[in-house]
Amino acid sequence: MNIVVIGSGNVASHFSRAFVEAGCRIIQVYSRTPAHARALASTWTVPAISQLSDIDTTADVYLVAVKDDALETVLSQLPPALNGIVLHTAGSVEMAVFHGYARRYGVLYPVQTFSKEKHIDFGHVPLAIEASDAETQESLSRLAGLLSGRVFLCNSEQRLALHAAAVFACNFTNHCYAIADDLLHEHRLGFDLIRPLIRETAEKVMQHKPREVQTGPAVRQDIQTMEKHMRLLQEHPDWAALYDALSRQIGRS
Ligand SMILES: NC(=O)c1ccc[n+]([C@@H]2O[C@H](COP(=O)([O-])OP(=O)(O)OC[C@H]3O[C@@H](n4cnc5c(N)ncnc54)[C@H](OP(=O)(O)O)[C@@H]3O)[C@@H](O)[C@H]2O)c1
Repeated sequence: MNIVVIGSGNVASHFSRAFVEAGCRIIQVYSRTPAHARALASTWTVPAISQLSDIDTTADVYLVAVKDDALETVLSQLPPALNGIVLHTAGSVEMAVFHGYARRYGVLYPVQTFSKEKHIDFGHVPLAIEASDAETQESLSRLAGLLSGRVFLCNSEQRLALHAAAVFACNFTNHCYAIADDLLHEHRLGFDLIRPLIRETAEKVMQHKPREVQTGPAVRQDIQTMEKHMRLLQEHPDWAALYDALSRQIGRS
């Protein structure tokens, strides 16, 4: 299976490694920034391009992993009537984005967080797929199955909710870690002190429903403790607003 990778960021890098490990061939890498295209292409010793008009039209698959807001612009610049399947990897972009830009297309959305610096075992990554037609779905299902043991069908509306849930569970949680890190640093304490707490919180939800294992002053309604925290956070109105909003929601649930 010959694949052209369009994009050179976190997801493009991880997918291309997973494809190669699964026995597929990356035949070209596109990125609008020539140095970024070269950096990823050199990993697989394949040509790097920075003009979509130079794209290899013989590929079986075109994996488009660019910033969500740039997706349609990139698709609109692809050569018309490609024979290969054009895929995107976004949680919140409808499959309808391909209309008028590709003949066979689909979505391959990985429910995982990817950063270039951290290796991910793709075998356990849930892959949500959606395809333009039955034949393409069959091909996409086979391709996704080479990468992961957890492939499932998911329409655009479900995928939007899945992505929003992922933003709560991953991105917002990580932002809270960043606030905790800054707060500890201000008081000459290290983030290492709360790593066991973070690990235990994550492990608990592997076996329990999150709402059932909520702890802390908001669920106990320890009002005086919450007032002390709000006073401590006076110098950081953004953190205080977040603390207040989350505590109110926990208190109501
Ligand atoms: N990271 C995750 O954890 C994750 C998980 C699941 C799905 N996704 C989805 O995967 C896709 C890629 O995300 P990512 O995390 O890999 O992003 P990323 O690391 O920020 O990389 C973004 C890529 O998009 C390119 N790009 C940005 N603006 C562009 C434009 N106007 N025209 C052409 N290319 C443009 C960038 O090119 P330059 O290098 O030249 O800027 C880069 O190659 C997104 O749809 C995202 O929703 C991400």
